[in-house]
Amino acid sequence: MPTNILAIESSCDETAASVCSEGRIISNVIASQSVHELYGGVVPELASRAHMEQIIPVVEKALNDAAISSQQLDAIAFTQSPGLIGSLLVGAQFAKSMALALDKPLIAVHHMQAHVLANLIPERKPAFPFLCLTVSGGHTQIVLCESPLHLKVLGETIDDAAGEAFDKSAKLLGLPYPGGPLIDRYAAEGNFKRFKFPEPKVPGLNFSFSGLKTAILYFLQNAGKSMVYKEQFLASVEEKNNFIQSNLSDLCASIQQAIIQILLHKLEMAVEQTGITSICLAGGVSANRGLRTALESAGRKNGWETFIPSFEYCTDNAAMIAITAYYKWLAKDFVSLDTSPSARAHW
Ligand code: KG4
Ligand code: ZN
Repeated sequence: MPTNILAIESSCDETAASVCSEGRIISNVIASQSVHELYGGVVPELASRAHMEQIIPVVEKALNDAAISSQQLDAIAFTQSPGLIGSLLVGAQFAKSMALALDKPLIAVHHMQAHVLANLIPERKPAFPFLCLTVSGGHTQIVLCESPLHLKVLGETIDDAAGEAFDKSAKLLGLPYPGGPLIDRYAAEGNFKRFKFPEPKVPGLNFSFSGLKTAILYFLQNAGKSMVYKEQFLASVEEKNNFIQSNLSDLCASIQQAIIQILLHKLEMAVEQTGITSICLAGGVSANRGLRTALESAGRKNGWETFIPSFEYCTDNAAMIAITAYYKWLAKDFVSLDTSPSARAHW
């Protein structure tokens, strides 16, 4: 009999459930929460409430799509950390209740580990060891993956995440939340060489994006007249908005390019340090077309083998929780019913 695992993801603003059978994803359901668009960011209290409303229909649909009854499940998995605590609690409580009612083992999954292991879902998988650049709204990490359950963070952001850099830059351009996908869309029509933004000097494999945001802020305040804060020209609001409107695509392309360069330089350093040339991408920002193309061409240039999961496995989803849970199932890595979720957690 194949091992069937139901996995639940509720760490932020997506309520998701997935069933995997013997390590193969057989259903993957996501309910996104549009309520946050009004507020320019995820509102934790609203996210928890939306999870409460969505979790039963989402889990039911995941089981129906998989054509599996709850009696046929062998284990229940949930995202334990990191994330918004109210959101995590909804998924954790639901998973625990199901595990108790069905008398099945419970598996706790780390959301960031799951983003990395999303690369093990497709038929074409990376061989171990591989490096993974995980870029999401909350994290930016270079992870060394020696086996499914042995991961080591080699570098991470010391301030904003790459997704935040996209979203905050988009906000400065007057674009709605989440701005990452919009920057991607406008950038496709723009000239990325038009404006140059500085690359931060951060030691080792760590990243920093907060300086880029400040540079963009001053640049826009000067309506493109000067990059340097001290030479401030201070345009009127109208001049600034006109500048943005008439240069939107070039601005998006240049900002996107700056973020991609920061990411790829550190990735090149990680390859140099470890000698590992099997490179994966993970997290919501890996949906970015500029980043995908840049990684593929860096791969061709440097002789790397590159892996990028399909879009549905890049952004938050429960299939990545299910595949991680499958490896934990093989290792008999179960948790007790008194396991609590945690907003922050190291691995
Ligand atoms: O992994 P994810 O879905 O959620 C977190 O765990 O954070 O990542 C969401 C982030 C957001 O910042 C969003 O703007 C960004 O991924 N994102 C993109 C694109 N699609 C999503 N950023 C740039 N280009 C995209 N196409
Ligand atoms: Zn995520």
